[in-house]
Amino acid sequence: MAEDDDHGSRSSKGGDENGWSITEMSEDQVLSILVLLPLESILCFGMSCKKTLTLTRSSQTLWKSICARDYGHSIVRDRERHRDRDWKRLYQRLRNLDGVSCFNLNLNLNMTPTDAAPIPRASHSLNFLPSSSGSLLLFGGGCEGGRHLDDTWIAYIGTTATTSSRVVNWQRLSSPTTAPSGRFGHSCILIGTSLVLFGGINDTGIRQNDTWIAHQVINTTTTTTTLSWRLLDVGPLAPPPRGAHACSSIDDRRMLIHGGIGLSGTRLGDTWLLCLSDNLCFGTWHQTLTHPVPSPRSGHTLTSIGPNRTLLFGGRGLGYEVLNDVWYFDSSLPPFGWVPVLFEPRNIPGGLSLARVGHSATLISGGRVLIYGGEDSYRHRKDDFWLLDITRRRLWTRLKCEGYKPKSRSFHRASADESGCYLYVFGGMVDGILQPAEPTGLRFDGELFVVELLA
Ligand SMILES: *[C@@H]1O[C@H](CO)[C@@H](O)[C@H](O)[C@H]1NC(C)=O
Ligand SMILES: *[C@@H]1O[C@H](CO)[C@@H](O)[C@H](O)[C@H]1NC(C)=O
Ligand SMILES: *[C@@H]1O[C@H](CO)[C@@H](O)[C@H](O)[C@H]1NC(C)=O
Repeated sequence: MAEDDDHGSRSSKGGDENGWSITEMSEDQVLSILVLLPLESILCFGMSCKKTLTLTRSSQTLWKSICARDYGHSIVRDRERHRDRDWKRLYQRLRNLDGVSCFNLNLNLNMTPTDAAPIPRASHSLNFLPSSSGSLLLFGGGCEGGRHLDDTWIAYIGTTATTSSRVVNWQRLSSPTTAPSGRFGHSCILIGTSLVLFGGINDTGIRQNDTWIAHQVINTTTTTTTLSWRLLDVGPLAPPPRGAHACSSIDDRRMLIHGGIGLSGTRLGDTWLLCLSDNLCFGTWHQTLTHPVPSPRSGHTLTSIGPNRTLLFGGRGLGYEVLNDVWYFDSSLPPFGWVPVLFEPRNIPGGLSLARVGHSATLISGGRVLIYGGEDSYRHRKDDFWLLDITRRRLWTRLKCEGYKPKSRSFHRASADESGCYLYVFGGMVDGILQPAEPTGLRFDGELFVVELLA
């Protein structure tokens, strides 16, 4: 980009006829002004005199503040752990992100093989738990033989001492007496530090409309996590039963669901908000009835992209067609409602955003959404990564993928850590090796890998 180093040769003494001079301000004062400005203004300001030029070119303090402001404090903490302190370069890499790197996560080989890892599955739930030192929670899903699982696993993420490559330790949680029944196509999201689960299809094939809440219980001696589930008291009103709907948190008290497949097997287009009480003991469901609305669909995604904005993408529509439209739900002022997001064709490689269902869409640093995999209308599974950005300009970017090459997949799940720089992906449907025993050429996958933005 032209803004990066092209400061030209202009400079001035910075004074005016009243004697005011920027050269008389302390560096701290100038920095505190600069971090309040948008990037373009900072770069323009940089050209106004030698002093500001030096600052904007090489002050790591300035660029560290701008990184924290635009990409979050946890990314700054993460990079400090990596001893990466070239903040200006980091800023440029994040802003002009054009690729990711994938790493297969090695299983810790000290585990007993029988209970070492969850079996392959799809349409499960996967949540990064930020309160611990990095772990993933996996629940349910559908697996080989048409079973709908009710097992809960935690993957503790660590690094080996010798090679510092990443390893995971899967641990199966013992089934508590009170917990959601086995299911797939449910939603389970983190609200504050609690998990809220809704709906899905149970082991007898019946669509559900129960709402559950789980608190994490962390044993400080063993640093292990367990969950305590409770059926949430939602009063008389709840969305009709469904599976394969989309769900996202809005803030630490509210979540949003849209669509899915209902009791009679039809695709739904309704929007519901769940509001939790302050003590998290009660919840109230409200249906929003504003217009326009995204058409009925299933297998689409909702992704919270910042305060009061939730992005919807893709899915399969009423006529079994695969969709490519983008909407956001604005929950800042009642009546809350949907806003279609339109793109200039020149801001989409190929001129059209790619239709897909069963993909993942995860918030990454800078309020952007990383879209991975899914399948198109020909049921071709995908292995591509896209960046969807509606924050500054509205655009799609296809990302290069380096390192480990995961198989094309759909109905997998992905969850990012707090820094928004590491995305964990588990399971899904992948293409099988075509052979007589596998007439569909389709199988469940049980692989866990990490996608890094800044490898
Ligand atoms: C599935 O849900 C239906 C209706 O809620 C219930 O009657 C049935 O017992 C459930 N089956 C299982 C295996 O949980
Ligand atoms: C859904 O949930 C509500 C409240 O929990 C319940 O009263 C209702 O019977 C459930 N089923 C349907 C079909 O709405
Ligand atoms: C988000 O919406 C809530 C509820 O309307 C409002 O109180 C809050 O100020 C909004 N936050 C932002 C950052 O717009």
